Amino acid sequence: MAAPAVLQMVTGGIAAYKACWLTRLLVQAGFSVRVAMTAAAQRFVSPLTFRVLSQHPVATDLWGEGQTQPLDHIEYARGCAVAVVAPATANILAKAAAGLADDIVSTLLLAYEGPLIVAPAMNDAMLRHPATRANLACLRQRGVIVVEPAEGFLACGTHAEGRLAAPEAILAAVEAAARTAPVRPVPDGSVAAVADRWAGQRVVVTAGPTHEPIDAVRYIANRSTGVFGFAIAADAAARGARVTLIAGPTALDAPAGVEGFVRVRTAEQLAAAVREALAAGADWLFMAAAVADYAPEQVEMGKLRKESLGTSWNLALRRTPDILGDVVNPDRKEGLRVVGFALETGEVLERAAKKLKAKGMDFVVANDPTAPGAGFGDGVHRAWLLGPAGQLWDSGPSSKRAIACGLLDRLAALTGKDGAA
Ligand code: C5P
Repeated sequence: MAAPAVLQMVTGGIAAYKACWLTRLLVQAGFSVRVAMTAAAQRFVSPLTFRVLSQHPVATDLWGEGQTQPLDHIEYARGCAVAVVAPATANILAKAAAGLADDIVSTLLLAYEGPLIVAPAMNDAMLRHPATRANLACLRQRGVIVVEPAEGFLACGTHAEGRLAAPEAILAAVEAAARTAPVRPVPDGSVAAVADRWAGQRVVVTAGPTHEPIDAVRYIANRSTGVFGFAIAADAAARGARVTLIAGPTALDAPAGVEGFVRVRTAEQLAAAVREALAAGADWLFMAAAVADYAPEQVEMGKLRKESLGTSWNLALRRTPDILGDVVNPDRKEGLRVVGFALETGEVLERAAKKLKAKGMDFVVANDPTAPGAGFGDGVHRAWLLGPAGQLWDSGPSSKRAIACGLLDRLAALTGKDGAA
């Protein structure tokens, strides 16, 4: 398995020289390290040092100048399991707290969604300043881990608090964060290659619930909100995929960048829309929709009245079409990769694995909305990716947007641009 990636950001203090040692320790500990440096940091240490230590290009500005290939700085933020700013100057702490994005490091910080560690290092008066204290408090409140500066000899000639924590202590914080962070391995050393996997791919995504009408006003539905499917569609489109999103009734608007957006209501309509989208040509199908398994046998044109239904009502239901089993599989074109979803409440991985086999999926995303911390709609969630050989990825507790992003990274890493695997 590829090493978890760490984004190491270096800002401009004399302690930048100690950041080289941190890179060394991270690499030795088995992390795949990507380094970004502010302009001030580059006055203390050359990007070449970090390039050699990390064996990867160093992000030095927003414009990819001085690089043989342009670096997509947002991809540097996306592809990493943990990010660390060491040393973190008073300036970068202020920018991070305020959400400024006017250089490579502050921009990465704003784009990054995973666990973040900061290791401040500065003159003791700057560290004591109420502004710096407030900025650190604000970051802590947002869940940022602060590796406290140590007391010792400072470059300005005093013995005081403000010295960068020992690189070993920062490494320990990164290792602790990585244990609980989603694993987002980066293949072949290139984060851009993972993103590039999706460029031009024809991706069909289904999302949301279906509504199965009982009469003119009532229907059978489920609690799906469509957030996950919409996040996958949005992320794939942002990576250059040609996305068709087929959505059941949800409160969400079509994400930016999708080529096709089809609204459906029932399982039958969803099946027809999937059939049509696949006939037009597709490389990937993500069946994230929570398709109703049963629909009323008869639909009343008007409103059924309580008076005629009586005190107890037995509603006759029929199975809806199994879209994967009955629509996709019978005339599945070669090259189509199918990613199914299995929402389970108990024995999640076992049941998902069974579903993968039974429905002929290439991959299945398993999740349990009743697990602690998970649920429907927005908020923290957790998902597992399985293939025929078993579990491939555990997202860890994360937002659905971040899980969608990690899922596309992982699938890209597993399948490769040339269609291998
Ligand atoms: O509902 P179930 O857990 O069996 O769903 C597993 C997968 O099958 C999901 O990807 C879902 O979108 C898909 N499905 C389907 N047709 C149905 C019900 C579910 O293709 N009628």
